[in-house]
Amino acid sequence: MRELFVTRPSLPPLEEYKKELESVWESGIVTNCGPKHELLEKILKERTGSSCVKLFSSGHAALECALSLIKDDDAEGEVITTPFTFASTVNAIERCGLKPVFCEIDKKSLTIDPSEIEEKITGHTKAIMPVHVYGNLCDHKKIAKIAKAHGLYVIYDAAHAFAEKAGAKDVATLGDISAFSFHATKTFGCAEGGAIFINCKNASKLGEKASNLRNFGLKDGESIYAGGNGKMSELSAALGLCNLRHIDEYIAKREAVAAVYGEKLSGSDIKPASFDGNGLTRRNHTYFPVIFKSERALKKAFKSLEENRIHARRYFYPCVHEMKYYREKYGEISLPVAERVSKRILCLPLSADMTAEEASFVCKILLG
Ligand SMILES: Cc1ncc(COP(=O)(O)O)c(C=O)c1O
Repeated sequence: MRELFVTRPSLPPLEEYKKELESVWESGIVTNCGPKHELLEKILKERTGSSCVKLFSSGHAALECALSLIKDDDAEGEVITTPFTFASTVNAIERCGLKPVFCEIDKKSLTIDPSEIEEKITGHTKAIMPVHVYGNLCDHKKIAKIAKAHGLYVIYDAAHAFAEKAGAKDVATLGDISAFSFHATKTFGCAEGGAIFINCKNASKLGEKASNLRNFGLKDGESIYAGGNGKMSELSAALGLCNLRHIDEYIAKREAVAAVYGEKLSGSDIKPASFDGNGLTRRNHTYFPVIFKSERALKKAFKSLEENRIHARRYFYPCVHEMKYYREKYGEISLPVAERVSKRILCLPLSADMTAEEASFVCKILLG
């Protein structure tokens, strides 16, 4: 059995990418929002029905830009978010000079618990930044109601949720802004890349500002904001154009692997995370997280997997509020639901090129 990694990038046939690159070579335009970049933005806008789409060099850059768009001059601005996420979510808040306010998660969806959001709102709260963790939808209806009642922005970290649907709507249209990662590890990737989808009333104005921010804040030759460099290159956009043509096939292949996992683990003590809440009508199968009865059981299984060259990942462990930087800056914070899940959850290998035999073998090792 070959070595298995938690994921492997989905890549189009090389010939297809080479063909896409021919016109890049002909034009000599490799970056600075060239034709591939513009086409990918246009296709993503049409595909999702969003008011405005802006591509970025990474999902993290997209998140930082989204926060910069809604930030005002309040030096004590706060953003309510989840501790059960990749550090990028919270680092983006911190790096934008805002204070992350950690909120407990819901036991089932593992996303922010809306019933705990309101008590975290203060006069300095600017936004709620929930995460569709593993592609599991947040309770977006309740979150929208709370945000409306308090005049707050909702910025979704949708890094894991590309191509998913909430009812009939594309997940990218939820909230004021949704930020995605197109990193190689995601179901839809551009090697490195990301995007924001803006859907609030002032979308085109914010979109214009986002275009400036990702390009050093430049307008007519001078910086009107202290922007950085967040531009996606033509090479990444070309890969994105190819991968987008194959997205349904990538998802179907991942779904087939996930089905084997589901079947083999059924009735055991290792429980696949639940994905059936909050109106999720289409999944992208980016991750296959399983929950163990105890951290001890997880560690034992992890060790057996490693001995068989199967690299699962303790994703997300520890919670972000428990990480050194946040512990030292904000002190001990107790979020028992998130902490308990984080200790017992493991993401199994999942990629479009995995076979049913490989998934069965992973389960055989897991079940001892
Ligand atoms: C929840 C979450 N947010 C943000 C990011 C950052 O995305 P990127 O790696 O494209 O910068 C990631 C990356 O995996 C993520 O998991």
